[in-house]
Order: sequence, then structure tokens, then C-alpha cells
Amino acid sequence: MAPNSLHKDYPWTSPNAPLVVSAPMMKITMGRLAVTVSAAGGFGFLAGGFDLSPLSKDLAEAAEYANSQNVPLHNGVLPIGVGFQNWGSDVRMAVEALQNHPVAAVWFFAPKQLSDLIDWAKTIRAFSEGKTKIWVQVGTVAEAIEVAKTTKPDVLVMQGSDSGGHGLAQRAGLLTLLPETVDALAAEDIDIPVIAAGGIVDGRGIAAALTLGAQGVALGTRFLAAQEAVISKGYQNEVLRVTDGGTNTVTTTIYDVVRGIHGWPKAYNGRGVVNRTYLDAVHGMSEQENVERYKETVDQGDAGWGPEGRMTTYAGTGIGLIKVVMPAGEIVRQVRREAIEVLQRSTALYPK
Ligand SMILES: Cc1cc2nc3c(=O)[nH]c(=O)nc-3n(C[C@H](O)[C@H](O)[C@H](O)COP(=O)(O)O)c2cc1C
Repeated sequence: MAPNSLHKDYPWTSPNAPLVVSAPMMKITMGRLAVTVSAAGGFGFLAGGFDLSPLSKDLAEAAEYANSQNVPLHNGVLPIGVGFQNWGSDVRMAVEALQNHPVAAVWFFAPKQLSDLIDWAKTIRAFSEGKTKIWVQVGTVAEAIEVAKTTKPDVLVMQGSDSGGHGLAQRAGLLTLLPETVDALAAEDIDIPVIAAGGIVDGRGIAAALTLGAQGVALGTRFLAAQEAVISKGYQNEVLRVTDGGTNTVTTTIYDVVRGIHGWPKAYNGRGVVNRTYLDAVHGMSEQENVERYKETVDQGDAGWGPEGRMTTYAGTGIGLIKVVMPAGEIVRQVRREAIEVLQRSTALYPK
């Protein structure tokens, strides 16, 4: 198999290295980051989130930035993707925004029900004449098989339980989720490439994911420490400070509650750094009071983060591996290089 089997569909991605994708992170991974990742031979996703009203403007800015960096269109489309949180977004608004600036792929996540994605995929394939590929992020073997059979995406993103931000409350880590999914797809004679997401931060994680059967990897939390991330200093400092993500991050819905975000499907929660909001909720503070305290903290700006803070730091368990803020292109090149070194070292252990 080729080192990057998706190169043929996404010709700007490095052919001889693992495919590194920057996952969409709402309001954080916008045009500059997405274009930079793709310009480095990775695949950057701009986050559309659930409120698509700013998407046209965000895409126009991405196109302008690509132009300023001499990043060319491929097959008539921008070499980036757009991620949607389908539970709260509308396919007509998506198409309206994408029409002016078509992209190489869309990434679907968290629909109210999986069958909603059939129409999304059909609509986007039709308007783009197949130029915009369909990626779907799911969290269980059963979801993967259902989506593969109904929506028939071009790529499945398997999101393991170490992931930052939102995900299914009930799912496995990549170590088991990936091989079981790959086997289940093969047993059904389904040939859809799988990208691994959740807890992958450096070349070691990438090497592991590829060994487990992934064709590439998507990193979210690591790109919170990218120079191009649209993120407050307080948030980014937390990403650098926090270690031991298994205990210092938790999955919960309290962060949506205090931020006033309603509508996530019941099966989802979000992984973020333990802070005062969470600890107070655990110790019995009412949601109403927690919301009030949160609102007071918002005015404090960057000082609202930190161990005693209340501002949300959505991040995955890999947070402890992140020590420095780097340009996004450097992150892509560094993790790719590391992965190749790790894979070469491991192969040398057991020469044929
Ligand atoms: C701050 C943050 C925001 C996120 N927002 C989105 C989003 O808008 N849409 C989406 O599909 N996934 C979102 N995710 C999840 C990512 O797609 C991906 O599954 C996850 O980041 C992978 O795990 P990692 O963070 O350990 O790399 C978000 C993750 C984080 C950390």
C-alpha cells in the first residue's frame, strides 16, 4: 500500500508520508490554520460548527489567504475541508456558502440521527459534481457500519474516547476501536479508508494508528497549540500547562450548560480540562448558580482560565504531551517526520 493512499484524491497531500489532518474545532480552526496545514502537505479543515451564518465570510477569508500564500486550487476547489456539526446546521446554508468557494471535502459530525447524513451527502455531492468528498466522523463500530452502508462516505473518521471536545459518551479508545472497525468493514466487503482521531498528538501516536489499520490521522488538541489557532492566550496556556490528561480532563455536559449551548444529541458529552465549573457541579452547585459564576468569569478575559478558573478548556487526554506553541505547518512536518522515524525503528526491530 502507498504511504499515503489518499494522495490520489487529495493531490496536494504528501504522497510519501502519513496523511496528517487538522480536525475542525469550532471557532478555533479557521481559514488561516486550514490553509497552512494543507500548504504543508496535510489536510486542513475549517470549522463550520452549527451556526453557519458566518461561513460564507470565513470561506472568503480562507480563499483570500490561500491566494496570498500562492496555494492553488485543485480540480477547481480550495484544498481544504469544512467541518459541520450536523445536529444544529442546515444543508441549504452549507451549500449557499460552499457555492462561492467549493472545497475538497466536508466533514460531518453528530447529526440528530445518522440517517440525516444521507441527504447532506446527496445534496453536497450533487451540487459539487462529486468534487467535494464526504467525510463522516463516528465513534463506534456500529455507527461506522451504518454510515458506510447508508451515506457511503469517501472517508470514515473514527473518533476514539481520548478525543478532546465533543464525542459519544459511550465508546472505546483507538487501540480497540480501530482494528475492530477495520475488520468489520472488511467483513462487509466495504472499502472505505479510515482516519484515526482521538489522543493522537505526535509521531508515536500516528505510527500506532497506522499500525492499527488507519490510512491517516486527524489531530485536534495538538493544533490548539498552533500559532494560527484562533484561541485566547488563557486557553492556549492551559493546553501547555496541563499534564496527565486521564485525570485532569473529564467528559461532561456541564461546560455546554454554562456556555449556554443547547441541542447536542443526548448521546454526546465533551472532554475538557477539570476546572472550578466542573468541581462545583460535582459538589452539588446548582446549574443556575454555576451559569451565573461562569458569566462573571467571562469578563475576566485570559485570567478566567487556570486551575481555579471557570472558562472552558476543551481538550483531549493527549494534552500532557503538548509543551510548545508552533506554527501549524511545523506541527504537520514534525509529527510526520517523527512517525516515519518511529515506523522505521520498529521495522528494524524485526528484520525479515
Ligand atoms: C476544542 C475542540 C473543538 C472541537 N470542535 C469540533 C467541531 O466543531 N466539529 C467536529 O467535528 N469535531 C470537533 N472536535 C473534535 C475533533 O473533530 C476530533 O475528533 C478531536 O479533536 C480528536 O481528538 P484530539 O483532540 O485528541 O486530537 C473538537 C475538538 C476540540 C478539542
